[in-house]
Amino acid sequence: MRMKVAALAFLLLVAMTGIQAQQSTLTIRDTSGPVISRFVYGHFSEHLGRCIYDGFWTGDKIRMDIVDALKKIKVPMLRWPGGCFADQYHWRDAIGPRDQRKKTVNTTWGMVTEDNSFGTHEYLELCHLIGCEPYIAGNVGSGTPEEMSNWLEYLNFNGKSTLADLRRQNGRDQPWNVSFWGVGNESWGCGGNMTPEYYSTQYRRYAEFCKNYPGAPLKLIASGANGDDYNWTEVLMKNIPLRNTWGISMHYYTIARNWQHKGSATQFGEDDYFSALANCLRMEELVSKNSVIMNKYDPAKKVALVVDEWGIWTDPEPGTNPAFLYQQNSLRDALIAASTLNIFNNHCDRVKMAALAQTVNVLQSLILTDKDKMLLTPTYHVFDLYKVHQDAKLLPVQLESPDYVYGSGKIPAVNASASRDASGLVHISLVNLDPAKKVTVRTELKGISWNGVEGRILTSANFTDVNTFDHPDKVKPAAFTGAKKEGGQLVVEMPPHSVVVLELK
Ligand code: AHR
Repeated sequence: MRMKVAALAFLLLVAMTGIQAQQSTLTIRDTSGPVISRFVYGHFSEHLGRCIYDGFWTGDKIRMDIVDALKKIKVPMLRWPGGCFADQYHWRDAIGPRDQRKKTVNTTWGMVTEDNSFGTHEYLELCHLIGCEPYIAGNVGSGTPEEMSNWLEYLNFNGKSTLADLRRQNGRDQPWNVSFWGVGNESWGCGGNMTPEYYSTQYRRYAEFCKNYPGAPLKLIASGANGDDYNWTEVLMKNIPLRNTWGISMHYYTIARNWQHKGSATQFGEDDYFSALANCLRMEELVSKNSVIMNKYDPAKKVALVVDEWGIWTDPEPGTNPAFLYQQNSLRDALIAASTLNIFNNHCDRVKMAALAQTVNVLQSLILTDKDKMLLTPTYHVFDLYKVHQDAKLLPVQLESPDYVYGSGKIPAVNASASRDASGLVHISLVNLDPAKKVTVRTELKGISWNGVEGRILTSANFTDVNTFDHPDKVKPAAFTGAKKEGGQLVVEMPPHSVVVLELK
């Protein structure tokens, strides 16, 4: 009897403190498989709020502290100028002497004056400094095929023409050879309110005038579905010429509550924590179901699924212009980034490019600025930890995870992905979403020889923890000592709400 009481008391204690050993099993196989394109680690920056102006572009200069931070995480691609802004953007307004550029109105984002001081030349200089590929979203909604075609000539033609000479006159002799080219943005919404049938016809027309100049073959990306609008994907795949389409996009934002009241970025409890994570994990279903449709029309998987807008969207920070979409970034958001990147890695046969929205001072940013101060968000640190997966061969994973249960809902507590890089090193990224319970992950490594393991962890005391200008390093990676070899197995002790990236030795 006394034994039973003691056992019950122990179980009660364990349940209350959450210290019971949750177990997860993981199998990683080294087989021939697809490569995780580095472009999955891309980013998005729009003329919106303080992303470009008072962000990248401050005092008529590119901010080099931002550039250096982005170089460190090997940003491979930067999408620009929108977003919704792309379909109201006229490139000719933003070339030539800055003081003579046209003043326009950013009608989507706060009706602010757009002085066009940051245009084509500035953006391509920014990409050059970061060392990343440009990805321009062309204007279908309010532009013409002629305007799009002229922009491409200005950008990519090396010979003699009025537009190529204009580029030279504006200070750029050589063409930029821009290759990633979006034909519109969210054409089902802010990009023109089109039906998929109408957009497919428009795409065919615009794409026809997107010319491949010598040495500058284009990678055209059609404006794809709003998350689970599978009909959009189906109609596009059926109607657009796939042979000269590099990818079709898909946009999906994680919202904790609903579009009217999205929830605070900093003041939230476990209800918003859980629902945001559950909603972020929907990316698995969206990618899978869109891929099934694409497989029907493109079984060889030549056309990429390009998730060129994703991330958590919260209510704006109190006291800021609501049209500027400035939000803080917590440990929860880092878990969202890490879990989403694991999903993309595991679907790298189809997802060949993605862009987190939106780099600096907007939505799920990597970087926040305040005058000349700058901080790195928890999400930035995830991209730093995960950069090892860029262009590495995917190692398929099989995972049995305990559930993280909240109220009547449950999600898998653990998610993972793994890869082998060009130098032969194996990296494993693991996420434990459970906010209270640690998880022991026992891993079988099939066809992989290894002797030791090193790792780094990103976690913090609370899932609401953020980096502020007063405490910029509250959430930052640290060395991880919770992984060891036990027999032939890799055993990893994952603390609650943590991201761990391991390197096998
Ligand atoms: O990223 C903010 C906005 O979200 C983009 O402008 C638009 O494409 C999407 O609806």
